[in-house]
Amino acid sequence: MSVNELLQLDNVAKSFGSTVALEPTSLSIEDGSFVAIVGPSGCGKSTLFNVIAGLLKPDSGEVHVADQVVTGTSGHVGYMLQKDLLMPWRTVEDNITMAARLTRGVTPEDRAEARRVAHQYGLGEFLRHYPHALSGGMRQRVAFMRTLVTRHPLLLLDEPFGALDAQTRLEMQQWLLQVWKEAQRTVLFITHDVDESIFLSDRVLVMSPRPGRIIADFANPLERPRSLDVLTDLRFVELKSQILHLLHGDS
Ligand SMILES: Nc1ncnc2c1ncn2[C@@H]1O[C@H](COP(=O)(O)OP(=O)(O)OP(=O)(O)O)[C@@H](O)[C@H]1O
Ligand SMILES: [Mg+2]
Repeated sequence: MSVNELLQLDNVAKSFGSTVALEPTSLSIEDGSFVAIVGPSGCGKSTLFNVIAGLLKPDSGEVHVADQVVTGTSGHVGYMLQKDLLMPWRTVEDNITMAARLTRGVTPEDRAEARRVAHQYGLGEFLRHYPHALSGGMRQRVAFMRTLVTRHPLLLLDEPFGALDAQTRLEMQQWLLQVWKEAQRTVLFITHDVDESIFLSDRVLVMSPRPGRIIADFANPLERPRSLDVLTDLRFVELKSQILHLLHGDS
């Protein structure tokens, strides 16, 4: 593994009984990059994340994170699950510190860090609130902060904005790019929204229908920082067209 790679998959495959969820897949992810993954429903995207996180053991192949072979859930990634629900009976602060509570107990430092990120990223006034008193976008921010405070260099985000309306989603995308830049993490981001995959990423991986495999790996030519103007940039439109054709054929 070269010095700049944080994640490497070597021929990782996974089946559930006779269902092949993931064909042998190899992949390298550069440290600090933002990589989006798009693909049809059921093509194995969440399975891929579960294998990287060590929640699922691959049938074959190996996952390396920062030069370590992943064996089981050794807490080597920050993972925001597709259905990452907040605990309704806990405050924003307690939700953000949840990983520590579940593993080793919450320290004053954990609380300070939760308050710091909440203040830095626009939720400082809501630390004592419960999830029901937040908007959908705010709840997703809390779920993301919960992932961020684990301090893992690699963050796996599985359709974090899937349930949001288009306008809130755009706001969240801009917000996420700001956090990503400041927090200097590596992000793998699953989405069904091709615009979102291009707006956010350095690279877009396209997966085939089940059995899933990576059929394309596009370098994103758009420079950063990005404003909403990129959405109408010719290079954006061209890349979007290529991805849509791969996902839906030419018809
Ligand atoms: N724990 C499991 N047991 C059995 N089959 C599973 C399990 N998890 C996933 N599968 C199957 O593996 C395939 C891939 O599922 P996966 O959740 O990875 O898809 P996905 O690409 O994330 O889909 P979506 O975009 O709808 O979230 C599906 O056919 C699914 O039914
Ligand atoms: Mg999924």
